[in-house]
Amino acid sequence: MTAELGPVPARALPASARAPGKCILFGEHAVVHGAPALILALDLHTQVVVTRPSAGGAAGPAPVADNPYLAAALTLAGRGPTDLEVRAVSRLPRAAGLGSSAAFVAALSAVLSADAGGLDRPGLAQRAFAVERAAQGVGSPGDTSASVAGGYITVNGPAATGPLLWEVRAGSERWDVRRAPDPGWSWVVAYSGIPRSTAEAVRAVGERLGRPDGPALLQRFADVAARGIAAVAAGDRGATGHLLTENQSLLRDAGVSHPRLEALIEAAAPASEGAKLTGAGCGGSIVALPVPGREVDLMRRLARAGAVPFPVTPAAGAALVEPVFG
Ligand code: PMV
Repeated sequence: MTAELGPVPARALPASARAPGKCILFGEHAVVHGAPALILALDLHTQVVVTRPSAGGAAGPAPVADNPYLAAALTLAGRGPTDLEVRAVSRLPRAAGLGSSAAFVAALSAVLSADAGGLDRPGLAQRAFAVERAAQGVGSPGDTSASVAGGYITVNGPAATGPLLWEVRAGSERWDVRRAPDPGWSWVVAYSGIPRSTAEAVRAVGERLGRPDGPALLQRFADVAARGIAAVAAGDRGATGHLLTENQSLLRDAGVSHPRLEALIEAAAPASEGAKLTGAGCGGSIVALPVPGREVDLMRRLARAGAVPFPVTPAAGAALVEPVFG
């Protein structure tokens, strides 16, 4: 079980924080509409360094206008667009379904909250989601909560999953975030190299779910995710694999698969218990649960099929790192 992290302590600028990306194992898209999801914070991070602008500092980082997440974070923190210099390095590919924007937002929100006197972890989760929502306009708090919490979490998962970490709100919408047990598995993620827009995919699925058969489809997503959460908690690899495959067929129905993703899932089949797209789809990445002992074979198959595969294990949540001198 992942040790729960404490509050973000007070720390004046300059300061630095890092936060992990994420991989959605069950329930993407449906979670936006209240269904459960199971999400893993993965061991690829974004690190953010925030300093006060250097004197005459013309050679600063990218202007705020180029980065809606940075602009939203500064606005919500009550800062002007030129008050601070923000630099980020990340090992997460962008627009790949692996939570690069959530990791950036969680790390940046941790630094800004530390400079404002510190913040408890539920407050950081709420703040990171508010920033992502302001920048993106749509979506659930799954990505940002995974970056803040680390390990395995559920959003809208059954109470039996584990202790409630926090609830996140946006207007009349509300999501429960719970700690989920870690089965001790490693997963394989493979990036297709096809970038796509999360917001566009989320809007398209919203329209799909608005059709007459939409509520029935949403219910099937919810059932598969609830069974997936239980299978992972029970450490049942076979059942988890079947449910990954079932979840993928619902995502295909919802219109967010892609021929490249289908080809990768097919290439993975002989060495995996099951596989599905992860994140918004329409490109991006897949996640596969390897057959024990076939991890390397699985990665070879995915690489041969043209993807960038990597093994993934759980990461700790957003944390301040060593202070920055300068
Ligand atoms: O592809 P990503 O990393 O942006 O993940 C999006 C996940 C969705 O469920 C499609 C949207 C959301 O905010 O939950």
